[in-house]
Order: sequence, then C-alpha cells, then structure tokens
Amino acid sequence: MTNDIENAIKSHGQEQVMKFWGELSPESKDKLTAQLEGLPWNRLGELVEQYVVRRPVTDIPEDLVPAPYFPLQPADDKMAAYYCLAREEAEKILRAGKVSLLTVAGGQGTRLGYDGPKGTYPITPITGKSLFQYFAEKIYRFGQKYGVKFTWYIMTSELNNSQTIDFFKSNDFFGLDEDRVVFFVQGTMPAFDHDGKLLLAAKDSLALSPDGHGGTLLALKRCGCLDRMKREGVEYLSYFQVDNPLVSIVNPLFIGLHALEKSQMSAIMLAKTGPFEKLGNFCLSEGKLQIIEYSDLPDSLAESRNPDGSLRFIAGSPAIHVISRDFIEELTAGGYLNLPWHRADKKVAFLNDQGELVTPVEPNAVKLESFIFDALPLAARTMILEADREEEFAPTKNKTGVDSVESCKAMQIERDARRLERTGVKVRRNAGGVAEPVIELSPKFIADDADAAAYCREHHIADLSQNTEPVYIG
Ligand code: UTP
Repeated sequence: MTNDIENAIKSHGQEQVMKFWGELSPESKDKLTAQLEGLPWNRLGELVEQYVVRRPVTDIPEDLVPAPYFPLQPADDKMAAYYCLAREEAEKILRAGKVSLLTVAGGQGTRLGYDGPKGTYPITPITGKSLFQYFAEKIYRFGQKYGVKFTWYIMTSELNNSQTIDFFKSNDFFGLDEDRVVFFVQGTMPAFDHDGKLLLAAKDSLALSPDGHGGTLLALKRCGCLDRMKREGVEYLSYFQVDNPLVSIVNPLFIGLHALEKSQMSAIMLAKTGPFEKLGNFCLSEGKLQIIEYSDLPDSLAESRNPDGSLRFIAGSPAIHVISRDFIEELTAGGYLNLPWHRADKKVAFLNDQGELVTPVEPNAVKLESFIFDALPLAARTMILEADREEEFAPTKNKTGVDSVESCKAMQIERDARRLERTGVKVRRNAGGVAEPVIELSPKFIADDADAAAYCREHHIADLSQNTEPVYIG
C-alpha cells in the first residue's frame, strides 16, 4: 500500500478499514489496497460532510415551472407535419447505423428479491423469456427492419457482471452477434455508517455497491465504449432500464425529434396518474430542464392544477432517454463527471470490531448513488416527448402489487392483445374488458404494429374470439 493511501486513511480518520490488515494474505491485501486506491479520497471528506453526516436537502428553486413537452398526439397540422419529418429523419439515422442501444443493468434489484441479475428474470407470460432475451429479440427484429446490426451496450456492476456474461454465453447471445453485445462495468461507491466511517463487508473488502445509473456516462468513457461508438459512426444512444420490457427501444419519433431539435439529451415523459405518483417530475428552472424527485416536490406544487383541472406538474419520468454521444464525450472529457449524489439509508451487512459479520435489521448505513437524469441540466438543449404509458411502461420492481412481475405480465398481455386488435384480429375479452387468453407475441417477429399486421396476414390469424387457452405467436 502506498504512503499516499496510508496518509489519506489517517487524515480522514478511517483507520478502521485496516483493522484486520495483519491477518490478511498477500492476495487479500492486494484486493483491499485496490479498493482503497479506487476511493475518491480528494472528495471523501466533503462527501461525508455533505451527504452522510448531514442530511442533504434538495433546494426547490422558486421559479420552478412544469417543463414543456411534445404531446403524444400532435396538437395541430404543423406539429403533425413535424412529427412526419422526425420519423423520416429517424429512418435515415437508423439506416445509417448511427444509433446504438444502451441498457442499464447494474442495479441490485433488492425489491424484486431475485437471486441473479434482474435481466435474467423470466418475465414473459407464456414462455418465460428473460428480460434480456426479450430485448435481444427486439434488437434482432429492429436490426432486420433497418438493415443494420445494432450494437447493444449493457452496463453491469461488479456484483453481476460475470453472471450476466455467462447468461448470454450459455444462450448463444440469443441470436445476436457476440461482438455486438458489449458489457461494461459501472463504478462503485462505499457504504458509510451514520458517523461517516467506511464499512467493511469482509476483512479484505469494503462494503461497496454500484454507484447508481448516473455512473453510466463515466463508465462508458472509462471502458472505451465511447471510442468504439465514434469508430462505428454512432451518434445517438437509446437508453433504457433493464426492468421495463415494454419500452420502445427503437422509437423513430423520439430519435427523429431528438435530432431535429438538436437536443443533447432527451427524455420520454408519461402523464402522471396522480399528484404523488412515484415518478420524477420534469421541471424548468432558469430555463434549464431538471427532474425533481417525487419525494422532493412540495405537496403544494404536486397538487397544483391548471384551470381545466389537470395537474400542472403532470410530466413524470420513466427513465427513457436518447443521449447524443458527443454530449457524453463533452461531459466526461476530463475523465471525471461530478453529478450530485443521492443519499439512501439502507441495511448493509458489515464486519464489527470483533471481525463478525452483522446483518442489521434496521437501516444502519448510507449509500450514495448518482442518477442519469442529473445530466439533463448540463445539456445545452433538451427535448421531452410524451409516450403512452400502457404501451411503453411496465416496470418490474417488486414481486407483487404495484410495478411488479404480476402487473408487468398483465400489461404485456394487454399490450399484445391491443396490438393484435389494432391489426383487426378479434380477441376474446371478459365482461370487465380484460383479454381472456394469455397472449404473448414474440418480438423476434413482431416488434411493432406493422410487424403484427404483416405476421397475422401471412399466418392467417384473424379471430381469437373463441380462444381461452394461452396464445403464443412467434
Ligand atoms: P432501480 O433504481 O430500480 O434499482 O434501477 P434496482 O437495482 O433495479 O432495484 P432496487 O431499487 O434495488 O429494488 C433502475 C435501473 O437502473 C439500473 C437498474 O439495473 C435498473 O435497470 N441501475 C441502478 C444500474 O444500472 N446501476 C445502479 O447502480 C443502479
């Protein structure tokens, strides 16, 4: 261990991390040393003071107003023509291979309580395809449509990287070219106790966890992904989370508007179901777009209404973005990116002074994460587009209840049923209007409505009104 690190440990009063040093093997010493060397020592004191010892308070700017957005349905003929232009622009961009896909899959999926990377979770209602397979099939199909091979960047964390790669290997990359699926590992942050002391998870290891999806941008730079994109002529990244199988991963209107508006970072918005729905709120302050978390938006603003009774702060964020590569390059040019940290009080197992592992029953630690949406205020130009929640957003956060495996499966069935109905296929529905057969469309063949129409025509699928048995199409 270098003198610099030893001095840093002492000057920050973090000697407890060396408590078991004398007992460690050379390999264990190397491991702990590497972790300690990776810590942001030059900012550690400030981080502890600002986020751990004190509870950070989000200042709500006085001039906060709802952010404008492009509505789902164009407001007038002029806007409709602009949307057509955007779709045409996207077609050109996509055919020229200027778009790559980016999935953030480094999270711990604590709420789902599943033993494995969340992307490996079997999510489709009939065949039980994993989230990763579902996306891979969509990527394959969109590649066919636009005559390109998309490169798919998947951000993992140290906790799930090897398991994720093994999963893809053992499934032959779900038909994608192996060299078109790029895994890159996000950074970590240490957990602190409430006095700002670094916690040990083992005698030779700090308690480290992924540094949040805000870590994506710097990780892309550090892992050489930005260089690869540049070499391949990629200008735009379609960014989505691993837990939302419905997301439109190649959304021509979104990509086209992003390009026409010369936006550096764009976002999809959903109309919130109520004032306190747990989605970040798109707001403007001093002309800059920012997301205020649901927990930070004062009730008076959350509940404020327009004269027609609609919510003023209606725009919620499902964390779907298009980001320009050159914007990420600009942000990370110096090899660092200081996004603000968000504090989370969590239960973190730690080693006590006797070297015993303690599993707390109450939150005992502070974890720090950065969020991707904090890059929005750093962009010179941004753009927001409304999407249809039923068609686009079925997050899998919990096993049951709201935003769960259950609700996600039900939404997939309904979305696929509507997709069939839009092509003219009759679907049996019960008195409550719910599709009766469990339906699953394979995205390998049907990635959008046009595909559904062509597939059903070709395979003479027109009437499912008598079906109660599960219907898998693909
Ligand atoms: P969530 O905030 O929902 O976290 O992540 P999670 O880890 O999936 O689940 P919980 O909160 O522990 O239950 C939203 C998206 O951001 C990714 C996740 O993988 C998910 O796609 N993410 C989150 C990362 O890639 N890295 C992180 O450090 C955190």
